Formats: sequence, structure tokens, C-alpha cells
Amino acid sequence: MPRIRVAIAGVGNCASAIIQGVHYYEERESEAGLTYGRVGGYTPDSIEFVSAFDVSSRKVGKDLAVAIHEKPNNTPRISNVPKLGVTVKRGPLLDGIGKYLKDVVPVSREAEVDVVEELRSSRAEILVNYLPVGSTKATHFYANAAIKGGVAFINAIPVFVASDPEWAERFREGGLPVAGDDVMSQVGATVLHKTLVKMAVDRGAKVDETYQLNIGGDTDFLNMLEESRLRDKRESKTSAVRAMSPYEIPTRIGPSDYVPFLRNDKVCYIWLKGRYFGGTTVEIDVKLHVVDAYDSAGVMVDAIRGTKLALERGVKGELTSLSAFCFKHPPKQMPYPEAKAAFEEFTAGKRER
Ligand SMILES: NC(=O)c1ccc[n+]([C@@H]2O[C@H](COP(=O)([O-])OP(=O)(O)OC[C@H]3O[C@@H](n4cnc5c(N)ncnc54)[C@H](O)[C@@H]3O)[C@@H](O)[C@H]2O)c1
Repeated sequence: MPRIRVAIAGVGNCASAIIQGVHYYEERESEAGLTYGRVGGYTPDSIEFVSAFDVSSRKVGKDLAVAIHEKPNNTPRISNVPKLGVTVKRGPLLDGIGKYLKDVVPVSREAEVDVVEELRSSRAEILVNYLPVGSTKATHFYANAAIKGGVAFINAIPVFVASDPEWAERFREGGLPVAGDDVMSQVGATVLHKTLVKMAVDRGAKVDETYQLNIGGDTDFLNMLEESRLRDKRESKTSAVRAMSPYEIPTRIGPSDYVPFLRNDKVCYIWLKGRYFGGTTVEIDVKLHVVDAYDSAGVMVDAIRGTKLALERGVKGELTSLSAFCFKHPPKQMPYPEAKAAFEEFTAGKRER
């Protein structure tokens, strides 16, 4: 089975979790914890990391296996990744670092590399975008670099690329697939919230109000204290839940605070109130506690393997089934069971995109 050659922009906690996770499954036969052991014949350890970009002086110039443990990364260690022979390269800063990250991410003084050339020389096939929330210019830079370098693009963050028709068209013209936007974690707040609202609506309750409040102690949550960087994040999370109801539900969703000692744990509170039989009241109040970066990695291993299949089949432009299954703000929203069935049809070759 061929390998899947992946480049990463942003060597933070999510990069650490997927790199450690791929090594974890490489070391054992078990498929426990995976949604799919195989996607089109590919196992998680078919994924090979061949190139990486960051701006932090603690990460640039280091082997990727070392860089993933540099501060302020704080996701737990689940495996000892041997040196990968991939040096983290200095990418352009643009709007990558917001006002709260300035104090914890020292920017490297090394010269910026030619990202397109680096993608070509490393023979990357897919570029995964893991930049901080609010990195609109930097995300557009990497999306352009992917097109110029001839690699597919998977956008794990809430800046709209796959779900933006103009960007999708650029990828189509470039003959490349694009997936995104904003990864929907494996057993995460969004899929749980979507499922609760859909269940209540399907069973005849009129949902009157709902919120989802999230707290965490990693740089993602620190960065998200900056409300001006959050516009697309709120839109991404809220649209995913709103799509589960045929009527408008007053909804408030977003990151709510940074609690440093939670480290990479995320705690989520979901609440909804509605009325069912005879106009009587029903309330649901749920708390979810996860390790945030691993929650995203469990889905990204499927997104990467599905995108590789799209490359093999020459699919161009936005990947609708894969994106509906793996991302919060896809080109086309679907309820979870429909998205999962569409993804499975796509990976089995029964659906074009
Ligand atoms: N469950 C999840 O963790 C989850 C779910 C959905 C979306 N996301 C999104 O994924 C993204 C990554 O999350 P994370 O927890 O790894 O964040 P992180 O803050 O740990 O990592 C971001 C990395 O990007 C680097 N960076 C900043 N500007 C850069 C630039 N211009 N070029 C290259 N690198 C740059 C930083 O130095 C850091 O290493 C975030 O946008 C987050 O919101 C995460």
C-alpha cells in the first residue's frame, strides 16, 4: 500500500496529537479508538509527515518529532515518536500570532523559506492547515501555496476555504481537491450538540434556546480570548448546530474562557430548553470533558485518508461528503448519520465527491 505524504502548517497541539497518534497505531495491531481501521485500504500509519512549517523559534529548525513537544504545546504524550528526519521550516508570520499568543510564542528570526518549493521538494501530496484561529491571511497564503505546489489542502481551522465557492473554484481550476472547514472533533462539542438538537427536533420538541460554552487551557483557548479573531469560529460552530433545525433557534456558542491548569483538556457545557407534549418544558444539560487535540486527530486521520482517495481518483474542488462528515463548516451541512453514510459511499467509490 502506498504512503500518504503530508505537510503541516502549524506545529501546535493538533499536529502533536496526530503525529503521536499515527505512531501509536504503527506500534500496535489494535484499531481501538479509530472510527475506521481502514479507509480505502489505508491505515492511519499509511500517513507520513514529510514537511512542516511554523514561526516559533522553539520549533523552527528542530526535527518535527522534537518540535511537537516544545512549549507552549501541552497535549499529553501517548507515544515516543522517533526522529522523523523532517526539519520544521520557517513560514511567513502574517496574521498567525494574535495579541495573547505574542507573549508565549517567540517568533523565529530565521529567514522564511519558499513554501511552494518546500512542498514540491518534499513531494508532499496534502497540506494540512493547523494555524491559530483568526489566521485568515496566513491560511489564504498556505491555500495559495498548495495550489501552486500542486498539493491537496485540508483546512482544519475556522477560516472559510473549502466552504467558500471562490476558493473551491480555484482548487478546481488547479485540478486539486480541498476539504474543510474547521475540524469537527471525534466525540466533540459540535457533534454532541448537533445530535442533541436533531434528536429533540425529530421527536417533536420545539427547541426554544440553546447554548454551548467551552473552556480549556491550551494556546487555542488563550488565543480565542481575542474576540476579534473569533468571527468565523462562532459562525462555524453555530451554523453546524443551526442546520439541525428547520426553524431558527436562539443560540449562543463559543469558547468562553481560558483556564491554564486545564492544559489541553477541554470542558464543554451544552444546554437546551424546549417544549414538548402539551407545551410542557424539557431541558437537557450536558457536560463533556475531552483531550482537545486527540479529539481532532481522530477525525483528521479519516480526512487525510479520504483526501488521498480523492487525489487518486482525480476529484477536483470541494469534497462535499468528506467535509460534511469531518468538518463543522463544510460546503454542504448534513445531519451526522447522513454525513457518515455519504463519507462511506465516497470512500467506497460509490459517490463522486
Ligand atoms: N479539537 C481541536 O483541537 C480543534 C478542533 C477544531 C479546530 N481546531 C483548530 O485547529 C487549529 C490548531 O489548533 P492547535 O490546538 O494545534 O493550536 P496551537 O496554538 O497549539 O498551534 C498553532 C501553531 O501554529 C503556529 N503558527 C502561528 N502562526 C503561524 C504561521 N503564520 N505559520 C506557521 N505556523 C504558525 C504556532 O506557533 C503553533 O505552533 C486551531 O485553529 C484550532 O482552533 C482544533
